[in-house]
Amino acid sequence: MSRRRFIAGNWKMNLDRAGAAGLISALRAKLPHDPGFDVAVFPPFPYLELAVNACAGSCISVGAQNCSHELKGAFTGDVSATMILDLGARRVLLGHSERRHVFGETDVIIAKKMATALGIGLHPILCVGETLDERKAGQTSDVVLRQLREGLAPVAAAQLASVTLAYEPVWAIGTGVNATPEQAGEVHSILRNALAASHGRATADSMRILYGGSVTPDNAASLLAVPGVDGALVGGASLDASKFVPILEAAQR
Ligand code: PGA
Repeated sequence: MSRRRFIAGNWKMNLDRAGAAGLISALRAKLPHDPGFDVAVFPPFPYLELAVNACAGSCISVGAQNCSHELKGAFTGDVSATMILDLGARRVLLGHSERRHVFGETDVIIAKKMATALGIGLHPILCVGETLDERKAGQTSDVVLRQLREGLAPVAAAQLASVTLAYEPVWAIGTGVNATPEQAGEVHSILRNALAASHGRATADSMRILYGGSVTPDNAASLLAVPGVDGALVGGASLDASKFVPILEAAQR
């Protein structure tokens, strides 16, 4: 089954107002109205509305990098899925390794966020990935399967069409050491086989699994050529149009 490719740029806590606007206009200038694959950017919260306006009428969709597990109330410093949707963004990253490892988010809280986001119509990208120690200890498959199972626990079968998965080995994020195509392919197969076992082969074959972790213009084509790698979640290289555009071009080929 052919799945539409998906390239997403996670800006993390980078850029300013002018930088965000400049980057989107540089991307718009290079992208046709329908490039044949999906493109999304994930700006910091303060620039979400700017990004939504700057992307209007283009093929670029906009998402937030996180959301609260609750929809409203006394949660100082949190941002709700409702607010994200209200600003016109349609996507959200959940379970990113920095949320898990820097901010201590557990599988339980990530599952609550999945339920909350999907419940109001946001399209999440659920990220999973092992640390270097876990890989060295032979626990990669156990870790990603636990994160997958817990993250999807509250998700109804009918909601799965709104979910994208991303395999992001923690040791590859921001390190310049990407997973090899073989390593990515192996974990993508593990994830897809688990989806087939839990939700049926047709559902598993319809879901997109992105790879993330030090994706660059140099390695994008070889990673995207792996069967089962349906796109990329790009951090550092998504901040600079001269790097992100060649990655988008690799997805187009
Ligand atoms: P990186 O980040 O491309 O800078 O390694 C990827 C990510 O965190 O999504």
